[in-house]
Amino acid sequence: MKKVLVILVVLLLSYAAFASNQLEIFSWWTGGGEEEGLLALYDVFHKYYPDVEIINATVAGGAGTNAKAVLKTRMLGGNPPDSFQVHGGMELIDTYVVTGMMEPITGLLEQWGIKDKFPADILRICSYNGEIYSIPVNVHRGNVVFYNKAILEEVGIKELPTTWPEFIEALKKIKAAGYVPLALGDKNKWTATHLFEDILLSTLGAYNYNGLWNGRTSFDHQGVKEALEIFKELMNYINENHASLTWQDATLLVFEGKAAFNVMGDWAEGYLKTLGWTPGKEFGWMTVPGTKGSFMVVTDTFGLPKNAPHRENAIKWLKIISSVEGQDTFNPIKGSIPARIDADKSLYDDYLTWSMNDFATNALCPSIIHGSAAPEGFATALNDTINMYITTKDVKKALREITYAAEDYLE
Ligand code: GAL
Repeated sequence: MKKVLVILVVLLLSYAAFASNQLEIFSWWTGGGEEEGLLALYDVFHKYYPDVEIINATVAGGAGTNAKAVLKTRMLGGNPPDSFQVHGGMELIDTYVVTGMMEPITGLLEQWGIKDKFPADILRICSYNGEIYSIPVNVHRGNVVFYNKAILEEVGIKELPTTWPEFIEALKKIKAAGYVPLALGDKNKWTATHLFEDILLSTLGAYNYNGLWNGRTSFDHQGVKEALEIFKELMNYINENHASLTWQDATLLVFEGKAAFNVMGDWAEGYLKTLGWTPGKEFGWMTVPGTKGSFMVVTDTFGLPKNAPHRENAIKWLKIISSVEGQDTFNPIKGSIPARIDADKSLYDDYLTWSMNDFATNALCPSIIHGSAAPEGFATALNDTINMYITTKDVKKALREITYAAEDYLE
């Protein structure tokens, strides 16, 4: 009897030791090009910390459609993961930092000697009151159009359209040839808002777009109305089943040779690569018409929640994701560029090299729908407005709702 008890106690103790050596990472990267990068990052982690068991806590749904709500419930309920995916900017600061739920990590970056190894603009949106609260693992670009090269060739589009009238001309040609001109998958609303914010960037220009977030530009600006009108026009060229498709499904239409263009962040590039395509060979890319010289910034970051159950392991995680090795493993797969300025550029494909060069020279503009520019309340209201607008096509009503949302949520 005594012997059995001893064995039980030993078993329990070893289980406790094992369980305490865990690391729970929360994200919405569940597949379709997103999971591959994350798993590769886990492999780097395990190379250095083989004894730590990673709990891959994911909630599916592009752009955090479902994950963000689950995360918030957990954080508010005092049940944080050890670290979680969060966009730099308002999504991090307004939702989790101002509310006192995160630990500052400036000291860690100093200790590791890498505080100056990130672009100042990116670190700034991960900071509050002089302290850094999260580490950017990447920079995605939001204002990109991906296209099926064979379709454009067949239809005879030799010059890539750079303005909206040119783009619409191209869409007409493609429609006449029997293809879906512009793939959209707004089963999860954000993809339509993603398209809208890119158009807004084109009609306002970077200076005025950035001015929306500090009060310099008013939402009465003619460019907001113009963006709604262009958006409405584009809706004549999308696939009929758009409301039942995810972003991956829409990208897949391009891959399958059914659709010509897809306006999407460059996680679509990661996805197309995991499907077997090579950038520049089967697919091409260009900036969203009218946005050349501007870079819509989407950055995924990870921080340290207060009371992280496995704090030491969370710090190890942050060390790996902030390392050149971690970033250079993750980003070429994910379709994003490294946040580290000293990354090995030779590891990145033609598309990512293009993106890296633009990031270094363009005007940087924070994305609304990917959490950087505005508080969550505004992004949600805009999302609802744009999705209603697809049906109502009522410019005045949409404009009024956007203005109200700005009054309610922006200072
Ligand atoms: C963005 C995120 C990207 C990608 C995309 C689609 O918000 O920053 O990493 O996951 O959503 O899910």
